[in-house]
Amino acid sequence: MRLLITGGAGFIGSAFVRLALQENWVGRLVNLDKLTYAGNLENLSSVENDPRYRFVQGDICDTAQVIALIEEEKPDAIVHFAAESHVDRSILGPAAFVETNVKGTFSMLEAARATRLARFLHVSTDEVYGSIDEPHDADEEYPLKASSPYSASKAGSDLLALSYYTTFKMAVTVTRASNNYGPFQFPEKLIPLMISNALEGKPLPIYGDGMQVRDWLFVDDHCRAIWAALTKGAAGQIYNVGGSRALPNRAVVEMILEAVGQPSSLMTTVADRPGHDRRYAITTEKLEKATGWKALVPFEQGLAETIQWYRDNTAWIARVRSGDYQAYYTKNYQSR
Ligand code: NAD
Ligand code: DAU
Repeated sequence: MRLLITGGAGFIGSAFVRLALQENWVGRLVNLDKLTYAGNLENLSSVENDPRYRFVQGDICDTAQVIALIEEEKPDAIVHFAAESHVDRSILGPAAFVETNVKGTFSMLEAARATRLARFLHVSTDEVYGSIDEPHDADEEYPLKASSPYSASKAGSDLLALSYYTTFKMAVTVTRASNNYGPFQFPEKLIPLMISNALEGKPLPIYGDGMQVRDWLFVDDHCRAIWAALTKGAAGQIYNVGGSRALPNRAVVEMILEAVGQPSSLMTTVADRPGHDRRYAITTEKLEKATGWKALVPFEQGLAETIQWYRDNTAWIARVRSGDYQAYYTKNYQSR
C-alpha cells in the first residue's frame, strides 16, 4: 500500500505514521502537513530516516500542490487527518476552522477526483452529533447537531466527503472518533493540559461543574480503527470509533491528580465553555462487525502510559509551551 496522509505531524496523524511503519502496513507513506502550531516534526523523529517515509510541508488548501504530489507519488489511498482540531480555539477564532476543515477538505477531495484516486478516508469526530441525552448513544444514522464552529466545520466536511461518494462515485469512507488521548498530544486538550499543569503544581481549570461526559479512546486504538476502516470498511460508509469508556471530566482529573501525587485542591472552577456539549456517547458496533476492530487499551492503562510519557518528556512539553502557547493560554483562561 502506498499512502498519502495529511496532518501527520499532529497528535493522531503522527501516531498513525509511527504505527503504520512499525506494523508494516505500508510500503510508502507520504505525510503532507503545513506545520501549524499543532504540527511538530519532533513527534516523528523516530521515523524520519525510514526510507519508506517522506515528509512534505504544504497546505491542503493548495489543490495544485496536492495534485502534483499525488501524480508524483501515485498513492493507493489518502487518509485525511489535517484539521484545526481544538474547540476553544474555534470559539476564539472560527475563520481558520472554515478555511482548513471545510475548504481544505474540499481541496483534498477535488485533488483526489482530478487524479482518479482509488480510496479516500476522511477522519472525523463524534462531536458532529452534538450533545447526546442519556440513555441514548449515537449510531452512524444519528442526526448531526454540531455546537461549536469546530464541530460544525467537521460536519460540513463530512457531508462534502460523502457527497463525493454519492455524486462522483469516489470511494470515500468517513470515521467519527471520540476523545483521543495518549503521548505527544498538544497540551491544550483536557488530558495533556491537566497532566502538564499537575506535574508543575499549577491550577487545573475545570469548565463549569466539570460533570460533562466524554468517551476516552487511546490514540493507537483510533489509528488501528482507521486502518481497519480503510482496508476492510466499505466506501460510502461512516464508522464511529469509540473507547467505550465514558467518564465525567472531574473523574478523569481526579485520576490524574492521584497518579501525579497532587491534591484535589489544584482543581479550579472557571467559567464554562460557550455552547459546551454535556455528553458524548457513541456506538461502535458497525465498525466492529464490519472489520473485527475492537478498542484494546483500558483507560487506566492508557492513562498511566500517557502520564509516564509526559513525566519522561518534560523538554518536549517545555518546547511546545513556549512562544505562541503562552498567548493562547492567557487569551483562553485569563478572562474566565
Ligand atoms: P492536531 O491539531 O494535533 O493536528 C492537526 C495537524 O494538521 C497538524 O499537524 C497541523 O500542522 C496539520 N494542519 C492543520 N492545517 C493544515 C493545512 N491547512 N494543511 C496541512 N496540514 C495542516 O489534531 P489531532 O488531534 O491529531 O486530530 C487529527 C484529526 O482527527 C482531525 O481531523 C480531528 O478533527 C480528528 N479527531 C480528533 C480527535 C481528538 O480527540 N483529538 C477525535 C476525533 C477526531
Ligand atoms: O469528541 C472528539 C473531540 O474531542 C475531537 O473531535 C476534538 O478534536 C477534541 O478536541 C475533543 O473535543 P473536546 O472539546 O471534547 O475536548 P477537550 O479536550 O477540549 O475538552 C474535553 C472536556 O474537558 C470538555 O468537556 C471541556 C473540558 N475542559 C477542557 C479544557 C481544555 C475543561 O474542563 N478544562 C479545560 O481546560
